[in-house]
Amino acid sequence: MGLRKILTDQEPALHKVCKPVTSFDKKLHKLLDDMADTLIDSGGVGLAAPQVGILRRVVLVDVGAEEPDIIELVNPELVETDGEQCGPEGCLSVPGKYGLVRRPNYAKVRAQDRNGDWYEYEGEELIARCFCHELDHLDGILYTEKMDRFLTEEELTADQ
Ligand code: CO
Repeated sequence: MGLRKILTDQEPALHKVCKPVTSFDKKLHKLLDDMADTLIDSGGVGLAAPQVGILRRVVLVDVGAEEPDIIELVNPELVETDGEQCGPEGCLSVPGKYGLVRRPNYAKVRAQDRNGDWYEYEGEELIARCFCHELDHLDGILYTEKMDRFLTEEELTADQ
């Protein structure tokens, strides 16, 4: 297991624009493997490299319904969005809080895999929300900069 420390709100790394990945080497593969361990350990849905202090354009999203099924997005771009959803959103880097955030209801991303081959992946609802949230991380943007407001304690407990 290669667990990495997840940075929170005030860390400068979370507010910087990340550089593209240019070497699809062992170092990248180790980062991806460690990020997968860290994502599963945290119980989150997505993780971006700047959240573990690496300023490169790398994102993981767990698209699995029951078992974890993690896809690796290197140098991802949003190529298509459609519709709108407004709902609660959280972030491993903003622990214990949730905000109401508007996102597209559908999103298609184009990205490279760990060997540099391009592919596309599309998703709706939570997956579309997660793509948008994680890609924002690569440009130094947290959901708290886009949300309507934080959910209150009452709203959070009512959801459970
Ligand atoms: Co996040």
